[in-house]
Amino acid sequence: MSLFRLDASILPASSASRSLADLVEAEWTSSHPDSTVTRRDLGAAPVPANVWADAVTAKFVPADQRTDAQQQAQALAATFADEMLDADALLFAVPLYNYGVSQHFKTWFDLAYTDPRIDPEGTALRGKPATLVTVLGGNYAPGTPKEGWDHSTGWLRRVLEDVWGLDLRVVQRPFTLVGVNPALDAFTDAAQELKEKAEATARVYGQELAALRNADTAA
Ligand SMILES: Cc1cc2nc3c(=O)[nH]c(=O)nc-3n(C[C@H](O)[C@H](O)[C@H](O)COP(=O)(O)O)c2cc1C
Repeated sequence: MSLFRLDASILPASSASRSLADLVEAEWTSSHPDSTVTRRDLGAAPVPANVWADAVTAKFVPADQRTDAQQQAQALAATFADEMLDADALLFAVPLYNYGVSQHFKTWFDLAYTDPRIDPEGTALRGKPATLVTVLGGNYAPGTPKEGWDHSTGWLRRVLEDVWGLDLRVVQRPFTLVGVNPALDAFTDAAQELKEKAEATARVYGQELAALRNADTAA
């Protein structure tokens, strides 16, 4: 058995998304102690933003006329695709930055998506069990002042679930900046409750991921 895990936090030492993903991974490892875990840490090794364009333009020229940069970009895209296709299950840990999707995740996604095996027509990832852990410094729930400002979680769901066809579960922990930003001190109790709820959900989703249980049949 094998798990692919991607982390996108730029601050790994204090990362809430890593901690939450660790709970999912622990459930996986508990069920599959001999499993390999393939890791891609985008905070430590971001994908350079120019690589995607090389991979896209490579498709417009015959193979024997591609530049070194184009060939290297295609090879890296294939590596990213291999890492997911070779795994039995996928785990993504992606924070909200600047009201949008992490640029590290976006450059990784864009490049992986150039691989012909996970193109929009017939994604080879369809039905693969996956868990997305996402964390937000603030809280964008319905009725909050910034409702609608989280432009990350919805996009992540669309591309992972609808475009790539993953059998996706999403656990979200808002208010991770409570206790860090004094302006949010009034929300200490609410943040603690949301943290505990997210942790409990992460454990359940970790067990379901380990069971490779299909979302359509899960209780
Ligand atoms: C540069 C930067 C930008 C951020 N932008 C936002 C934001 O727009 N909205 C928000 O709710 N939190 C924002 N945050 C807070 C992060 O979402 C929060 O700290 C989260 O826990 C980071 O993930 P990590 O703990 O896994 O590193 C930002 C954090 C950083 C470092």
